[in-house]
Amino acid sequence: MKICVLPGDGIGPEITAEAVRVLKALDLKLELEEAQLGGAAVDATGVPYPEATQKLARAADAVLLGAVGGPKWDTLPREQRPERGLLGIRKDLSLFANLRPAILYPELANASTLKAEVVSGLDILIVRELTGDIYFGQPRGIEMREVEGRQQRVGWNTMIYAEYEIRRILKVAFEAAMKRGRKLCSVDKMNVLETTQLWRDIADEMGKDYPEVELSHMLVDNAAMQLVRAPKQFDVMVTGNMFGDILSDEASMLTGSIGMLPSASLDANNKGLYEPSHGSAPDIAGKGVANPLATILSAAMMLRYTFDQEEAAARIETAVKKVLAQGLRTGDIYEPGTTKVGTREMGDAVLAAL
Ligand code: NAD
Ligand code: IPM
Ligand code: MN
Repeated sequence: MKICVLPGDGIGPEITAEAVRVLKALDLKLELEEAQLGGAAVDATGVPYPEATQKLARAADAVLLGAVGGPKWDTLPREQRPERGLLGIRKDLSLFANLRPAILYPELANASTLKAEVVSGLDILIVRELTGDIYFGQPRGIEMREVEGRQQRVGWNTMIYAEYEIRRILKVAFEAAMKRGRKLCSVDKMNVLETTQLWRDIADEMGKDYPEVELSHMLVDNAAMQLVRAPKQFDVMVTGNMFGDILSDEASMLTGSIGMLPSASLDANNKGLYEPSHGSAPDIAGKGVANPLATILSAAMMLRYTFDQEEAAARIETAVKKVLAQGLRTGDIYEPGTTKVGTREMGDAVLAAL
C-alpha cells in the first residue's frame, strides 16, 4: 500500500501531518513517501507539479493531499499557479470521480449556521465530475479583440462534455445511490446550456438501467437554494465539475464547517487522491488552529476506497466521533460549552481515541 503524501501550502502541512500520524498508528503495512505540489513545488522547482512528484504519484496506489495555493503565488502566470498543479495531477491520474460526502455528526448540530432541525441526521453524497467541463475545455484565454467597434480585452472559456465523460460519472453516481438510499438527483442547467442538456438526456437513458434508483433532475440555481432550505431531501447528488465545486462548498456548511468535509477523487480502478474539500486557508496558516478532521476523514476514505480496509476506515471515523463527543473543537466548529483545541491537540485526541 504505497501512499504519496503531498502536504502542499498554507495549512496543508499542518493538517496532513495529523492524518499521517493517524495512518501510521494503524496496524497496516503502509509505505508513505512525501513530495511537493502547488506553491511549495513552485518555490522549489519553478513548476507546480514537478516531474519527481509525477513519478511518485503515478507509482503510488493513493495520494494524500493537504491543499494548495495562497496569495504569495496569485500573481504568477496561470500555468505556474499552484492550482494548476492540482488540476494537473487530477488530469494526469484520470481522477474523474470526486466523492464529497456531507455528513452531520450529531454533536455538531449546533455548529452549523442552519437550524439544528434542518440539518440533523444529514447524510448527502455529492458526486462531482473532476476532469472535464469548463475547467479543462479548450479553447480558452484572454486576448484583444474588436468588440462593439473597439479593441478591448475579451476572456473566454469552453464548457464541454463528451458522452463518455458523462456516462462514466453517472455510472459512479447510480452505483453509489444503489449502495445508499437509492435516490439520485442530477443537477444541471439544461434550460440554458446545451452541454447540460446532453447530461440530462444521458442521465435519463441510463436511469432505465437502474430501475431501483429514483432519479430526479434539478436546475443548479434551485439546487443551491434547496440545499439550504431542505437539505435532507437529497441522498446522492451528481453534477459537473464547476457546479460540483460550488455546491460541495455550500454543503460543507451544513455539516458545521468546511473543515469537516473530506473527499476522494477516483480513477476507473479506484486509485485515488484524497484531500479535504477546503483550501489552504491562508488566513489561519501557520497558527496551529486549522481543523485536521477533514484530512483525517479523507485518510479514512482512502483506506475504504483504494485499499478496501473497511475496518480500519471505520476505526478512524469512530475515533473522530468519540473526540467530538468528548467536546473537543477546533475554532471553526467551536461553540460555548465545548473545549477549544488546536490542530495538534485534535490529532492527539484522535490518536488516543483510536
Ligand atoms: P479556503 O477553503 O482555503 O478557506 C475558506 C475559509 O474557510 C477561510 O476562512 C479558512 O480559514 C476556512 N477554513 C478552510 N479550511 C479550514 C480548516 N481546515 N479549519 C478551519 N478553517 C478552515 O478557501 P479560499 O480562502 O477561497 O482559498 C484559499 C486558497 O486555497 C486559494 O489559493 C485557493 O485557490 C486554494 N484552494 C485550494 C483547494 C485545494 O487544494 N483543494 C481548495 C480550495 C481552495
Ligand atoms: C477544490 C478547489 C479546486 C477546484 C481549485 C483549487 C482548483 O476549489 O478542490 O474544490 O476548483 O476544484
Ligand atoms: Mn472548491
